[in-house]
Amino acid sequence: MAFENILVQNKGRIQYIIINRESKLNALNKFTLCELHEALTDAFKSSGVGGIIITGSGTKAFVAGADISEFADLDIKGGTDMARTGQSTVFDIIANGNKPVIAAINGFALGGGLELAMACHIRIAADSAKMGLPEVTLGLIPGYGGTQRLTQLVGRGKALELIMTADMLTAAEALSAGLVNHVVFQDNLLPKAEEIMNKILTRAPLALASAIKTVNDFGTECINGFETEIREFGKCFGTEDFKEGVSAFLEKRKAEFKGK
Ligand code: COA
Repeated sequence: MAFENILVQNKGRIQYIIINRESKLNALNKFTLCELHEALTDAFKSSGVGGIIITGSGTKAFVAGADISEFADLDIKGGTDMARTGQSTVFDIIANGNKPVIAAINGFALGGGLELAMACHIRIAADSAKMGLPEVTLGLIPGYGGTQRLTQLVGRGKALELIMTADMLTAAEALSAGLVNHVVFQDNLLPKAEEIMNKILTRAPLALASAIKTVNDFGTECINGFETEIREFGKCFGTEDFKEGVSAFLEKRKAEFKGK
């Protein structure tokens, strides 16, 4: 299957899925998400694939976020649909997949990029990688599961600090916060991901599927924070601050928010 914005490569029982829009820092536009959905669905079904490594093309970015140029015309319904569709067709499919998925974070993992990495079961970062959820700089909040998964990984206080300041963490800071499992030199990123995946692939596949499912059920309460996130993300699209944030990014200037 040939894709335009992703590359799918098999190496033994490992399938690489590489986001391949280097000129846009591998930003996730709608089309890329559709391709990811297709590739992931195939990979989880394929008996020849034992596990998946997701990475980005080049050395600058894993994924620099959702494609901001597609935000400008969205209203509350459009924003809500975007979050719901993205979560159900890509991010939840990865998190709830029956095979291990490792994110090899080769550069910027921002917004939807960090959310993509956080949906994976294990994260390995190059020492040059930078990670953050800068959505509030655009008048938005994370919409692809970021508020929930970051909180699960680093705890409520650190998650709120990162989301509200929009600060980026270095790879070393992400390691000490528990956001990534390992940090390695860029040249060693894929070898390290393969080493871990190859070890996992010597284990019992059905037990791996059960382990993923069971660990994912940890801490699930009656309140579905993902639903709250979808609603609140959608609501942001009805604000003037959102229009200002996105226009400022596209016009390459500093946003001036008015709290409306
Ligand atoms: N959506 C759409 N396009 C993006 C993008 C995104 N999330 N992130 C980067 N790009 C594009 C830029 O617009 C630019 O395109 P152009 O060359 O056609 O103008 C190209 O990728 C290179 O990015 P640029 O900003 O010139 O690189 P930089 O090295 O100066 O800065 C970043 C790198 C990551 C700091 C900066 O691109 C950035 O802040 N990106 C947005 C991050 C973000 O807010 N993500 C969350 C979205 S919800």
